[in-house]
Amino acid sequence: MPSRRTVIRALAAGAAGALLRPYASLARAPYVATPLARAIPSSGEKLPVVGLGTWITFNVGDDPELRDESAAIMQAFFEAGGRVIDSSPMYGSSQEVVGYGLAKLDRRGDVFSADKVWIGSGDDGPAQIEEILATRPIDFVQVSYNVLDRDVEERILPLAREKGIAVLINRPFRQGALTRDVVQHPLPAFAAEIGAATWGQLLLKFIISHPAVTCVIPATTQPAHAAENVAAATGELPDEPMRKRIADYVGRL
Ligand SMILES: NC(=O)c1ccc[n+]([C@@H]2O[C@H](COP(=O)([O-])OP(=O)(O)OC[C@H]3O[C@@H](n4cnc5c(N)ncnc54)[C@H](OP(=O)(O)O)[C@@H]3O)[C@@H](O)[C@H]2O)c1
Repeated sequence: MPSRRTVIRALAAGAAGALLRPYASLARAPYVATPLARAIPSSGEKLPVVGLGTWITFNVGDDPELRDESAAIMQAFFEAGGRVIDSSPMYGSSQEVVGYGLAKLDRRGDVFSADKVWIGSGDDGPAQIEEILATRPIDFVQVSYNVLDRDVEERILPLAREKGIAVLINRPFRQGALTRDVVQHPLPAFAAEIGAATWGQLLLKFIISHPAVTCVIPATTQPAHAAENVAAATGELPDEPMRKRIADYVGRL
């Protein structure tokens, strides 16, 4: 696995040497519409339906340059209208780095933070989860879902909808394997019918068009992608025939 620094240096389009100011204007200019928000069933609080993941991408330790690059991703994300940032104690330094970005941007009050249970050994897990289940109602579940990995459509998503449980979606791009594959092929012309300007937006629109989905949390090392992803929650969403068209098209690539 290449380090984040290696990946960033390999990226041609301006990611290296990222500072906050240049990305602020880049992110703001093309995306002006307010992203679609959905309510958390248990509280009614509305969240923009595209968030930000931080596994690996924000695990940059104490490196000041990389911390500032992470803050630039967060700035692009917030300025596009994003709010949910997903993290975990098991993502190395990610939580500290998110905290650094929030302080630097003075956005501490603007984030909706998704956290996770952390256990020292696998044996502790069942008891801890049971105690959770016993003492609190479940507000959220987090599952993997994308145009190629659709098992959760069978039971989990309908059940969450029926029980009024919010759903966070991780691995929307199969940790980048899916986006790397599809960009080898032309974006289908029908993407324009639902306002998807890029492959990333088409894949995210597929996910958030499922009515059980509350928020999808793509990860990125690029501020421009953070803004582009949030903007997938603007404009039209695919209806059922269009969802089938997207799935059939991607399935044939
Ligand atoms: N609870 C769990 O078990 C669990 C498990 C896995 C993940 N998660 C959470 O879910 C988040 C997302 O999952 P993930 O980290 O597996 O990765 P992912 O979001 O499926 O994929 C990330 C990859 O997609 C690329 N990408 C992002 N936006 C793009 C765009 N607009 N166009 C093209 N490529 C784009 C990124 O490349 P660039 O850097 O070039 O943009 C990166 O390589 C995690 O960060 C974590 O917060 C939770």
